[in-house]
Amino acid sequence: MATVFLNDTFLPAEQAKVSVYDRGFLFGDGVYEVIPVYGRQPFRLNAHLSRLQSSLDGIHLTNPFDDERWTQLITQLIEQNDSDNQAVYLQVTRGVAPREHVFPEGGKPTVFMMSNPLNSVPESYKEQGIKAITVDDIRWQRCDIKAIALLPNTMMRQQAHEKGAGEAILIRDGVMTEGSASNSYAVFDGVIYTAAKDNTVLPGITRDFVLELAAKANIPYKEESVTADRLTQADEIWISSSTRELLPVTTLDDKPVGHGIPGPLWQKLDALYQRDKLEANQ
Ligand code: PDD
Repeated sequence: MATVFLNDTFLPAEQAKVSVYDRGFLFGDGVYEVIPVYGRQPFRLNAHLSRLQSSLDGIHLTNPFDDERWTQLITQLIEQNDSDNQAVYLQVTRGVAPREHVFPEGGKPTVFMMSNPLNSVPESYKEQGIKAITVDDIRWQRCDIKAIALLPNTMMRQQAHEKGAGEAILIRDGVMTEGSASNSYAVFDGVIYTAAKDNTVLPGITRDFVLELAAKANIPYKEESVTADRLTQADEIWISSSTRELLPVTTLDDKPVGHGIPGPLWQKLDALYQRDKLEANQ
């Protein structure tokens, strides 16, 4: 049985219980991280911990642990779970308090961590690419915070799923922001475009990695938005996330993207991704 961490202890998942008065449960009042682990080494842990700090700052919640303590706990969690490749999920909520919108004073945050096996992405996704649909981005104005309140994201992803698609590409004010659970990219004439880091997108850790790889390979990129109209003309479209790495979208709204097969820039960057991900812990 999987071992999880709740508040101060490691325990079997089935024994981990959270109060019905937890603000995470009642209000979705909390933030989270997903950290991929390759060969038992967390990928870019410092970057994840720093984004966690920004998310906590964004919701005015004090970080319950310093980075050293987080690192110890995450290391222990990885040790106590079986797979070499894992996806560590951690969340911090504003803790248990009588239901009242105003933040409780002096409350104790709830900390929960689990780790699931990180399954490799099915080869067919890489050979054929995935389907995506465009949907209106119905989320709030602080998408830079990795908030546990994911109802809009789950609704948009479900909409994609019901159309046989693996991701929803979100359009806000006429431009592509990101995916429902990923950052997104479009390629035009050999140049990669992805939305700039602002309040409309999550600053993805894999996004940083992909852009670093592009820079090293002398592939030009621009952190600029792409209109929904222009997106229909893209040579390539990709998504990236900690659990899906970098995937090509080859069908968008039932129409082929470019030639309808994974494109040459994706091939190049995915090869670099696979080559460097084990050493890219900084
Ligand atoms: N989601 N944008 C959104 C809305 C996301 O939910 C995610 C990741 C990303 C990519 O971030 P990163 O590269 O740091 O994984 C972008 C995680 C994996 C999830 O919710 O499961």
